[in-house]
Amino acid sequence: MCGIVGFVGKSQAAPILLDGLSKLEYRGYDSAGIAVRDGDAEPVVVKAKGRLKILAEKTNDGAAVKGTCGIGHTRWATHGEPSENNAHPHCSDDMNVVGVHNGIIENYQELKDKLIRHGYTFYSQTDTEVAIKLIDYYYKKYQVGPIDAIAKTMVRVRGSYALAVMFKDYPGEIYAARKDSPMVIGVTGGETFMGSDVPAILKHTKDIYYIGNLEMARLRAGEVTFFNLDGDEVQKDITEIKWDADAAEKGGFEHFMIKEIHEQPKVVRDTINSVVKDVNGKPELDFSSVGLTDEDLAGFDNIIITACGSAYHVGVVAQYVIEDLTRVPVRVEVASEFRYRNPILPPNTLVVIISQSGETADSLAALREARNRGCKTLGIVNVVGSSIAREADYVFQTLAGPEIAVATTKAYSTQLIAAYSLAIALGKAKGVLSEEKITELLTEMQTLPDKISKLIEEKDRIQWFSSKFANAKDVFYIGRGIDYAICLEGSLKLKEVSYIHSEAYAAGELKHGTISLIEDGTLVVGVLTQSQLFEKTISNMVEVKSRGAYLCGITSYGNYSIEDTADFTVFIPKTDEHFATSLAVIPLQLIGYYISVSKGLDVDKPRNLAKSVTVE
Ligand code: M6R
Repeated sequence: MCGIVGFVGKSQAAPILLDGLSKLEYRGYDSAGIAVRDGDAEPVVVKAKGRLKILAEKTNDGAAVKGTCGIGHTRWATHGEPSENNAHPHCSDDMNVVGVHNGIIENYQELKDKLIRHGYTFYSQTDTEVAIKLIDYYYKKYQVGPIDAIAKTMVRVRGSYALAVMFKDYPGEIYAARKDSPMVIGVTGGETFMGSDVPAILKHTKDIYYIGNLEMARLRAGEVTFFNLDGDEVQKDITEIKWDADAAEKGGFEHFMIKEIHEQPKVVRDTINSVVKDVNGKPELDFSSVGLTDEDLAGFDNIIITACGSAYHVGVVAQYVIEDLTRVPVRVEVASEFRYRNPILPPNTLVVIISQSGETADSLAALREARNRGCKTLGIVNVVGSSIAREADYVFQTLAGPEIAVATTKAYSTQLIAAYSLAIALGKAKGVLSEEKITELLTEMQTLPDKISKLIEEKDRIQWFSSKFANAKDVFYIGRGIDYAICLEGSLKLKEVSYIHSEAYAAGELKHGTISLIEDGTLVVGVLTQSQLFEKTISNMVEVKSRGAYLCGITSYGNYSIEDTADFTVFIPKTDEHFATSLAVIPLQLIGYYISVSKGLDVDKPRNLAKSVTVE
């Protein structure tokens, strides 16, 4: 939610800020702004409603705004409609404090009332203006420096935030603070860069500092100093980011989403290779990078998986796979419910949190809830150094690289590998999977990248089919067992990028209401990868067909009579049925993508959505 950048150095700040914001636009894109300072002069603030390109045009790509120190923001509105007035940066009336903010200040109304009593007036509807004016208030009231003024503000506000602030009296300096919202800093060649996420600064440096929770930082040209809430200096280690800067560029593809779909064979292979090692010509699971030993795993009697959106859908797949392979009971729950439900967490429960960003507010809160209740936690996380990665007891680092499109594809696919690996590791530790079975599963898992490549080659056919449904009103996805879990993801992929209403149904549930929604020509996608359930789902497809549905079948069973039933079929290569999601999801991602393209929509930045949901 919202993206923040900052720069102080020798170069002109505005073009660097705009470039950094372009890498963060996936976090929010309803308005944007920058504040740039030229030496001691007051910051020049430029804001624009709408996409970043409007701000870029307004500032002549930054050339019109001079100065070597500045902050920038791309917004996903929470408090106050998207407008130039509500866009960040916000400032105190005398320009003493100018700042940008990501997150939500929960007690902003109470703080606003307090500030009004002290003579402050407000020009916007944002909670950010309140935070900035509160810093100004403490700075002037206590006659303290920036760090103390920010610390006093941090103690007073409730909620989540990442803040970047400039003070009139401190030219050439930017101050940052965070609680539960991410912020990274890089120092190189006498210049200092700041961003909400690694891609914003990756082209400048791969050596990153993470500001810890409830910590602050002071940025000067080529220098950064960290402070705790008491104002004491804190030493930090540098984390080297292995991501390639090109990975955050489109590289010739029209959209990030299709580029990331194409990256799946590689990132799935990389993630498999991180935990499957070749030992004497045989694949063996090695969980040392995760930090979980066989002894640890054998001690868990229950697994609870909690996550949001697509990561939750991975959890649903994992539930089927882990229970079937290990007979260890698994419960999967959306994190926003888990955190407020007073869940029962039996002894010896492992709580697994799945998250691409590692910053999703509800998932992070669920992790903290589990830890407070004494459970061990495993984070399956893509972003190195993210909050979930730092706070979980064990971390399975997925190797998807930077994912920019709002709709996840490659991160989802790598999370599946983590889920399968966890199932196999658990089965091994519990002694319920034989050595032969483990070798068979791992060998099969290693074939997935090539099979994914084969499916991506089907894209032209899928594009042809998808373009017919640009005007669809409703689409339904049906399947049973793991196929139902696949449908959940296929349906989300379609609706989030194409704005077509779609729903996933356990195929057996159709007759309990949903079937009344089927009309002539309604597209129903049946997913059939589980041999035991194939005929059952085919029957459900026939039922909707006889009520007018247009049928698409995604199946691995070419020898059955699917083509007699479905109007369009994508055959997926054979694999162990536990791993079928990794293959069946590819045509579903492509269907979502191509329908969105044929409607001429902004595939990578669908309306109202943000990639990283750091507010509740
Ligand atoms: O960063 P996370 O994996 O925690 O994000 C979870 C969801 O917000 C995310 O999967 C969302 O549903 C995507 N837009 C799906 O494509």
